[in-house]
Amino acid sequence: MSNCVFITGATSGFGHAAAHRFAEAGFPLVLTGRRRERLEALQKELSAQTQVHIAELDVSDETAVQKVVDELPQEFRRVGTLINNAGLALAPEPAQQVELGDWHTMIDTNVKGLVNVTHALLPSLIEVGAGASIINVGSTAGQWPYQGSHVYGATKAFVQQFSYNLRCDLLGTGVRVTDLAPGMAETEFTLVRTKGDQAASDALYGGTTPMSAADIAEQMFYIATLPAHLNINRVEIQPVRQVWAGMKVHRDG
Ligand SMILES: NC(=O)c1ccc[n+]([C@@H]2O[C@H](COP(=O)([O-])OP(=O)(O)OC[C@H]3O[C@@H](n4cnc5c(N)ncnc54)[C@H](OP(=O)(O)O)[C@@H]3O)[C@@H](O)[C@H]2O)c1
Repeated sequence: MSNCVFITGATSGFGHAAAHRFAEAGFPLVLTGRRRERLEALQKELSAQTQVHIAELDVSDETAVQKVVDELPQEFRRVGTLINNAGLALAPEPAQQVELGDWHTMIDTNVKGLVNVTHALLPSLIEVGAGASIINVGSTAGQWPYQGSHVYGATKAFVQQFSYNLRCDLLGTGVRVTDLAPGMAETEFTLVRTKGDQAASDALYGGTTPMSAADIAEQMFYIATLPAHLNINRVEIQPVRQVWAGMKVHRDG
């Protein structure tokens, strides 16, 4: 039986599409997220293609993360691919208008959550060794500043550097690490960021061609199934119709 693919944030967007992509190829899946009903629906949907284990999980809860990993059923214990995808942006306003709690939530999820899951699964990934992969979902926001990105962009800069540093420590184990850094993709991301403003989400993705969740899932699948001697360090991917934010200038008057 193939090694398992463990996906965080499988209830929506990239994680949901990744579950479909890896199921298509027959990989056993461990799917996690906070919304149980969505996990159950996904399990039902994908069970015809592969074996699926689901676990309701808030990645920011370190004890819960360890419990989910410790209690994996025997046939799902050999995790060979970890997709650290759960994450969010909040508070698109300027830093000086943001509630501190929103900053904490982004740090707890995108930074603490990602390290919680990585720490819990490293033993399994190292046991699998050659060909095992950790795919950390970063963002173009981790490298390119823009207004309203404040802590979100900073958490994704952490993801990039943590991925690189992890690679150094894992030298000799065979485990690969990638920072997958997408630009604009249409998922529930903007709905979450604006706390439910469907019009803002529609306006952002309307009149252009954003990436889809399936586009990113395809990158994940490619990275995880490369020959075992290859490591993609970072993938930065954008829609053709998006470029970097322009320089802003404060003018008198
Ligand atoms: N869409 C973009 O333009 C874009 C660009 C660059 C990077 N990204 C990154 O891509 C990743 C996936 O985002 P997406 O675009 O697919 O957004 P999405 O559709 O909102 O999906 C986010 C996923 O993360 C999960 N999640 C959020 N907080 C969680 C927590 N505390 N514990 C466990 N799961 C949690 C959500 O599940 P539950 O709510 O069920 O827990 C959901 O499955 C994120 O890390 C995001 O920062 C997105």
